[in-house]
Amino acid sequence: MNHGFDTLAIHAGQDPEARTGAVIPPIYQTSTYAQDAVGAPRQGYEYSRSGNPTRDALQECLAALEGGPVGLAFASGLAAEDALLRTVCKPGDHVVIPDDAYGGTYRLFARVAERWGLAYTPAKVSDVDAVRAAIRPGVTRIVWLETPTNPLLGIADIAALAAVAHDAGALLVVDNTFASPYLQQPIAFGADVVVHSTTKYVGGHSDVVGGALVAADRTLGEELRYHQNAMGAVNGPFDAWLTLRGIKTLGVRMDRHCDNAERIAAYLDGHAKVAQVIYPGLPSHPGHEVAAKQMRRFGGMISFRAAGGEEHAVEICNRAKLFVLAESLGGVESLIEHPGRMTHASAAGSPLEVPGDLVRLSVGIETVDDLLADLEQALG
Ligand SMILES: Cc1ncc(COP(=O)(O)O)c(C=O)c1O
Repeated sequence: MNHGFDTLAIHAGQDPEARTGAVIPPIYQTSTYAQDAVGAPRQGYEYSRSGNPTRDALQECLAALEGGPVGLAFASGLAAEDALLRTVCKPGDHVVIPDDAYGGTYRLFARVAERWGLAYTPAKVSDVDAVRAAIRPGVTRIVWLETPTNPLLGIADIAALAAVAHDAGALLVVDNTFASPYLQQPIAFGADVVVHSTTKYVGGHSDVVGGALVAADRTLGEELRYHQNAMGAVNGPFDAWLTLRGIKTLGVRMDRHCDNAERIAAYLDGHAKVAQVIYPGLPSHPGHEVAAKQMRRFGGMISFRAAGGEEHAVEICNRAKLFVLAESLGGVESLIEHPGRMTHASAAGSPLEVPGDLVRLSVGIETVDDLLADLEQALG
């Protein structure tokens, strides 16, 4: 379908159902399918781990939104990451990972994949030379990016790093969770695989956990599909349906997330109780120009460092009312958290440890003046 983003979000993979004309893809809550004869499943459907029409609708939509030939939906973002690693890597391989990343992703590399024989090196992904230096020629299989990174909102130059990875015979993987495909489409800049925690902006309503992979190349996409079935961490039909319902409004939601985040970043910038605001939309952000090149807008995530140090950061989180104190991000409601003690506790003592005075905001789509008033009282 050669349509604009919002048209694809509403229609890709979601034609009215053939039998009744149902405008919304039904939830095919079934584990198995009747076959017309031995070896003759109807339209290829034989068992729901291998294929389910509701999941197929979501997968087709995700592929269309990221601009790749194959999209795959998993039980969670980490399940998608695990399937990707075990599809393309083998014991003895090496991966370059961001030196700032979601704590659970770091834990997957450091506590699970390494034990299984996959080496990793953290590198600053906003520094192309640092990533190049971390590559072990002939051994590095993946250069793995988040951009913006979680939680320090570092910006990686996707096109430049695609060239670096490909020169070394490695794949470029981009975790696009923070931007969403509305703001950034990594495949257009040379990425080989896009990863999502669809739990976040893609689903958008904090009511479902899921993950996705979109491959730029059909052969790799089919290998991933084989492993999705062989390993089994698929997205269930009801979860796929909820995610699809969220996707339809992704573009309008993201624009409001960005509007609100821009206002809040401007308010925090220079506030006496704030030592530093980290938002890629601020010209003072070191990655601002690269972000402007590869992102439509700058997203709904803001991190800031509390002027009064770690205890102040914790107090701000505890005092917030409208900003709900919670992990996760990307839903319509605003969330606040202390990464060091919450989402990134698993990175404590590692090269990915985050500063103790850091507060992370997932700016929702509420009335922005109400959010500003809540922050004003929370800052103390
Ligand atoms: C950037 C990023 N990638 C991946 C994940 C993991 O996704 P999930 O929690 O759906 O397994 C998260 C979760 O917070 C995340 O923030």
